[in-house]
Amino acid sequence: KERKILLAIESSCDETSVAVIEDGRKILSNIVASQVKSHQRFGGVVPEVASRHHVEEITMCIEDALVEAGIEPNGLSGVGVTYGPGLVGALLIGISAAKAFAWSHDLPLIPVNHMAGHIYAANFVEPLQFPLMALLVSGGHTELVYMKETGSFEIIGETRDDAAGEAYDKVGRVLGLSYPSGKEIDELAHLGQDTYHFPRAMLKEDNYDFSFSGLKSSFINTVHNAEQRDEQLSTKDLAASFQASVIDVLVDKTIRACQEYPIKQLVMAGGVAANRGLRDRLTEAVKKELPEVTFIVPPLRLCGDNAAMIGAAAFVEAEKGHFADYHLNADPSLSF
Ligand code: KG4
Ligand code: ZN
Repeated sequence: KERKILLAIESSCDETSVAVIEDGRKILSNIVASQVKSHQRFGGVVPEVASRHHVEEITMCIEDALVEAGIEPNGLSGVGVTYGPGLVGALLIGISAAKAFAWSHDLPLIPVNHMAGHIYAANFVEPLQFPLMALLVSGGHTELVYMKETGSFEIIGETRDDAAGEAYDKVGRVLGLSYPSGKEIDELAHLGQDTYHFPRAMLKEDNYDFSFSGLKSSFINTVHNAEQRDEQLSTKDLAASFQASVIDVLVDKTIRACQEYPIKQLVMAGGVAANRGLRDRLTEAVKKELPEVTFIVPPLRLCGDNAAMIGAAAFVEAEKGHFADYHLNADPSLSF
């Protein structure tokens, strides 16, 4: 059987990434140029700054990805690219680069949904088996997605306000941490205790939706009240309390969803899936409550935004004959 090697491009937010992927499961290269440092002083991603960086980086990333993989353009069978959801200007850079490359080497263009990409990152650990449930937790999304079969996505629950990663980043700002602060809060949380008992929103409600803005407000109030009283709070305990609240809700609702839907696998993906506390707690809960379900979390470097996951999803799309023409446009609010 002939190898199918794809070039994949991701530029939806603040990482410019290009990968070369064989048969949807083998990473030949995965170049990730992070712009995080340029956005740090603004405390969040500035869309215009992101677009400019993508323009500067994309050509080199494509060259590096091909060189590292040891693949010539004529050894490729397609170009996969993220077309949404994400920042419109940022997406357009990746799409334009993908079109130019596909046109000049006479290759088919494969449109990929960024969130589907996050799920397909699990394919590098173990082949996906359906039906499956995916917990997608990133800076822009928090949702439970039920996949009855390949290519079928049903959002059964999602956040009503902030995404989990967004809550981490906002709380981090209050603590004076640099953006993005998820990783640092995770580390601090392991040194502290849940002494503040922040609310667990929607835990008792009979649905799979989430809400993190109340938790964020409660956290901010606690810090501000202490400041006014000149009281010293423990940053470690604040981090531990915040993280305990986020994890309690995510784990509880995910397990409940998996009990209601018949599934073979549970996949956790997105930037927040890198959270050590969440990985440990969910692993434990699945072992205890869902012994017949296989829990898959991609390795850390494949949890955040990267093009390898886009290549994995593009392979599936190409197998189904889903291609795009040169009219392909960015879709910033693309859903499933
Ligand atoms: O998927 P991603 O790289 O970009 C988006 O598509 O949003 O996710 C980035 C988010 C940020 O909000 C960041 O703070 C969060 O993932 N994050 C974490 C951890 N590492 C990254 N949140 C909690 N714990 C972590 N260890
Ligand atoms: Zn993402």
